[in-house]
Amino acid sequence: MGRTTRSSRRIRPLWVSVPALLLTACAENAPLDSLDPAGPAARRIDGLFRPVFWVAVVIFAVVTAGIIAAIVLFRDRPDRTDPKQVHGNTALEVVWTVIPVIILASLAVPTVRTVMDLTSCSSDAARVEVIGHQWWFEYVYPEAGITSANVLVIPAGRQACLELISEDVIHNFWVPRLNGKRYLIPGQRTELTLEADEPGEYWGQCGEFCGLSHALMRARVVALPEDQYAAWVASQQADAVEPAAGSRAEDGKNLFLNRGCTQCHVIRGVWTDVARRPPAPDLTHFASRQVFAGAALENDRANLQRWLANPPAVKPGSFMPNLRLTADEIDALIAYLEILE
Ligand code: CUA
Repeated sequence: MGRTTRSSRRIRPLWVSVPALLLTACAENAPLDSLDPAGPAARRIDGLFRPVFWVAVVIFAVVTAGIIAAIVLFRDRPDRTDPKQVHGNTALEVVWTVIPVIILASLAVPTVRTVMDLTSCSSDAARVEVIGHQWWFEYVYPEAGITSANVLVIPAGRQACLELISEDVIHNFWVPRLNGKRYLIPGQRTELTLEADEPGEYWGQCGEFCGLSHALMRARVVALPEDQYAAWVASQQADAVEPAAGSRAEDGKNLFLNRGCTQCHVIRGVWTDVARRPPAPDLTHFASRQVFAGAALENDRANLQRWLANPPAVKPGSFMPNLRLTADEIDALIAYLEILE
């Protein structure tokens, strides 16, 4: 009796964890779903994953059935005699060596072919340098002369060819609906292509543990129709909007220049001489981005108030310090940030 109670107590967590695990597969709003490809690269990976998965399912079923058959057929019984021994049987040895070789070889051919295809960049691709920082992604468009952060804008239906590098530790750039993961390694350049079939928003996440706020190191990819993409490029090339004289935004600009922000942040046309290398996100067109703080926060007034009041409380380990801003200073800074379209 005592033993039954103890063992039922031991398996009780299973009654909670197994259904919970299965229910996670039912999530309807799953922007990081790698089984829902939205571009050619992700589709290639999905097309490789599915047959490999079903081959694995068949192997699992055959092996499990064999183990169960052996357990049942050769279990200990009063009248049991030793089964026929097969140790050293050459025919069997050959069969169970050759079958796995055939299976592995037939999986290796499409795998290697897919890996090769995924690395090729088309000649009309948009080129973007992705720089990993603790804990945000920076995006530099060398041909257009644009520097942005947190939101990667790409043309829909055309390849974006990314060159990845890290300024500090190893990160990993992962936008599951558009492609697989790729490491960002200090001192080494890696490449990844992204392409979205349709205009839209695609979520990403740093896929390598990189310190305290790794979980909050996210990415947002926005794919725009070609004409809107061209307009976005043109707008990002412009210097920052000037606040109207005597406005709240002008107070904010003065605070930006005098409250320590200029140590790390660039606002083109206002301040480009930052002391800290690598710098913090370029704020020239901050208001044009949907998210900030490592793409972990939606870009709205309430989140900006929380963030400016105490950044490390929102993003543990954040290199942006608590500047002990007053509510009035925060209000003015937000008024300025809001005009930086
Ligand atoms: Cu960067 Cu995890």
